[in-house]
Amino acid sequence: MDFVLSEEHEMIRRAARDFAQQELLSGVIERDEQQHFPKELIQKMAALGFMGMMVDPQYGGAGLDTLAYVLAIEEISKVDASAAVCMSVNNSLVCWGLQEHGTEAQKQTYLTKLARGEWLGAFLLSEPEAGSDASAQHTIAEDRGDYYVLNGVKNWITNAGLAQVFLVMAQTHPDRGSHGINAFIVKSDWPGVILGAKENKLGIRGSDTRSVTFQDVKVPKENRIGEDGFGFKYAMQTLEGGRIGIAAQALGIAAGAYERALHYATERKAFGVPICQHQAIQFKLADMATQIEAARLMVWKAAWEKDQGRPYGYYSSMAKLFASDVAMWVTTEAVQIHGGYGYVKEYHVERMMRDAKITQIYEGTSEIQRLIISRHILKAH
Ligand code: CAA
Repeated sequence: MDFVLSEEHEMIRRAARDFAQQELLSGVIERDEQQHFPKELIQKMAALGFMGMMVDPQYGGAGLDTLAYVLAIEEISKVDASAAVCMSVNNSLVCWGLQEHGTEAQKQTYLTKLARGEWLGAFLLSEPEAGSDASAQHTIAEDRGDYYVLNGVKNWITNAGLAQVFLVMAQTHPDRGSHGINAFIVKSDWPGVILGAKENKLGIRGSDTRSVTFQDVKVPKENRIGEDGFGFKYAMQTLEGGRIGIAAQALGIAAGAYERALHYATERKAFGVPICQHQAIQFKLADMATQIEAARLMVWKAAWEKDQGRPYGYYSSMAKLFASDVAMWVTTEAVQIHGGYGYVKEYHVERMMRDAKITQIYEGTSEIQRLIISRHILKAH
């Protein structure tokens, strides 16, 4: 077993770290306050190949593996978790599925632009009454022969206000349950697509989250992904990979907060010495570092399983479950080490604590990850 990264992987990690320090750090507090993510930053991420990392170069991607992707996501998340989720959704939830299951025409028309970062994508599964219970879709795609007509409402859609391409799950055959669901490629500027107001969130405030309503939206038949009724499996498969990205995001948030806490602990003096010389702080730092290392091993393992072409859903759910709890715990400890300074924005860790919370919720709550893991265990038993 070799845990030493290749020169290429090290290079990608360095490129992401430099980008985060040089381009993301200076405006991150302001973006959090103003709930804003400038398009220019997406273009800069795209220029580095970060928007289509695992996409084949023939479709505009960087042709890298999942390990490269999680290394980049970790580094970006250390500084700006909102930038990381924008990137993660485009890579994992939009580009990956299109590459796996799209037709050649869909790839040429949509994937190429998405992978190059000329367009941004969003993944529209959740609804007001279909969150954890994802198959309870109320959005209807009525089959009218050459086209479908889409009606319904989607909720909590990351990138909604910035995206040109929506991957939309909708029910075509309500009598067939999850087997009646289809996935569609919809342009966000098509008639009948209506964006809701930006959600005023606790964390990842830089990322654009909205509801999207479809009113009699005409979707050409060639924009359906896969066979009729494939949509739920498509969404579930896509989320298996997406959870590796979110696990890496959680890892990065934790690692970023830890690095800040360590730095603070060596500078800040109390009782005549830097606080890192007090055992109370040393024990915290040791526990934080241990938890982060364990989370990183789980994230890399899940990425490795996927890169080997082996089933990875079990590992991606475990990595997300564990890393998101680590993120929540480590960021809370980082605030504690900072004392009063941790409670104000200039020191960053309060934002990281707020950002960490979403990693226990989106792409399946921690409870859903436990459900998936236990199903795998019992199936194998
Ligand atoms: N791969 C392939 N097929 C799968 C699958 C997978 N991972 N998981 C399930 N399926 C298939 C099953 O095999 C089954 O098919 P058959 O009937 O042919 O056997 C079918 O799909 C139905 O499966 P289940 O009976 O297991 O479905 P369920 O209703 O019990 O739900 C669930 C399973 C795991 C709870 C699922 O609903 C789920 O993952 N919920 C969480 C949803 C979620 O993660 N939402 C995130 C929204 S996106 C987001 O957050 C993005 C963002 O903005 C950042």
